[in-house]
Amino acid sequence: MSLRLVVPRELRPGEARVALVPDAVAQLVNEGYSVAVEHRAGVRSFADDEAYAASGAAVIANRAALFGEADVVLTVRGLGASDGESFARDLADVPRGAAVVGLLDPYDHEDRIQSMADQGVLAFALERMPRITRAQSMDVLSSMSTITGYQAVLLAARAAPRMFPLMMTAAGTLAAARVLVLGAGVAGLQAIATARRLGAVVQAYDVRPVVREQVESLGATFISFNGEHASETAGGYAIEQSEAFYARERELLADALRDVDIAITTALVLGRRAPTLITAAGVAGMRPGSVIVDLAAERGGNCELSEPGETVVRHGVSIAAPLDLASTAPVHASQMYARNVSTFLRHIATPDGLTLDTRDEIFRETLVTPNAPVFRTSPADAAPVAGA
Ligand code: NAI
Repeated sequence: MSLRLVVPRELRPGEARVALVPDAVAQLVNEGYSVAVEHRAGVRSFADDEAYAASGAAVIANRAALFGEADVVLTVRGLGASDGESFARDLADVPRGAAVVGLLDPYDHEDRIQSMADQGVLAFALERMPRITRAQSMDVLSSMSTITGYQAVLLAARAAPRMFPLMMTAAGTLAAARVLVLGAGVAGLQAIATARRLGAVVQAYDVRPVVREQVESLGATFISFNGEHASETAGGYAIEQSEAFYARERELLADALRDVDIAITTALVLGRRAPTLITAAGVAGMRPGSVIVDLAAERGGNCELSEPGETVVRHGVSIAAPLDLASTAPVHASQMYARNVSTFLRHIATPDGLTLDTRDEIFRETLVTPNAPVFRTSPADAAPVAGA
């Protein structure tokens, strides 16, 4: 029998993505996987039940029955909605030995990971994808950051009481908007590119000096405080800095913020709370009418006054801290997510079963239930357990 993949409807409020789009289903079915999709799973990303049926998936209305059939559950945000109760309800229906794949938030939800381990479920957290070349095509954080970086600029442009481009009109010259991007990783670089396309004058800062060249190649200016130093892991993630470093950074940024109209913050440190880069005093020093879009809201935010999930106005500055920005482009977000998750699936499975290769870095890093049965066997004994 072929490996059974199931795709539930995402229950988390604000979540509009789906783990597999119909095109991805068709490819997997063609390769020999069996796919079942929950009724209306794709409705918010404009993929209806008929499209899934046409791509070869079974469309199932009963969620418990869907889970009961699973060898691999492919999700965006894991099981349930955002509460523990709906998570437990879903988990109760997932068979022992099955795998759950998604953005499982293992840093903030250790209890849920433990419940999955207790039930003998293999949990794969895609946030933990190693940053190695061969994992690039499975990296959902990068794909989603591409979308959030772009959407953040549009959000800022809508919220700002001014336009972005320099305009020379019969009614006078309008100055271009000045945008500061903090954190020039995947989201930050996309924000820079988007703000530049809209005509803004852009500056950027990152603790990793290696990104200067990328920032400049997009037509932005890299701000240097002479405080930054080689500060990244072998995988390209920023290293957590000392409190003294952050204090100095906040002070220097407060100066830079006085002269900008828009600040977009994206700074993250893997597995930690987001560093505070803009203090309340920094906000107070900005010109009224300025806008901050804080993309680090999910990990607590880069601005002291951010309220995750809300837009607030403080000292005349509008501060947006959106949580589900990737879901505001659900068609492309789902398309990219589905491509990444299908590639990951092919990496950990064949149509005949899961290939539990504990020697493989991608497998080891993403599997967050280390007491799962697979780790009790030696790598040499690793063998398919599901669907075989
Ligand atoms: P991220 O989302 O973890 O962090 C965003 C940015 O914030 C990073 O550039 C980081 O250096 C910066 N940051 C952290 N603390 C800061 C602070 N105190 N002040 C200012 N900036 C701060 O990182 P992201 O965007 O996911 O990727 C970082 C790098 O990893 C990228 O440049 C990319 O080249 C590399 N990468 C490699 C992949 C692969 O090889 N498979 C996949 C994805 C990214």
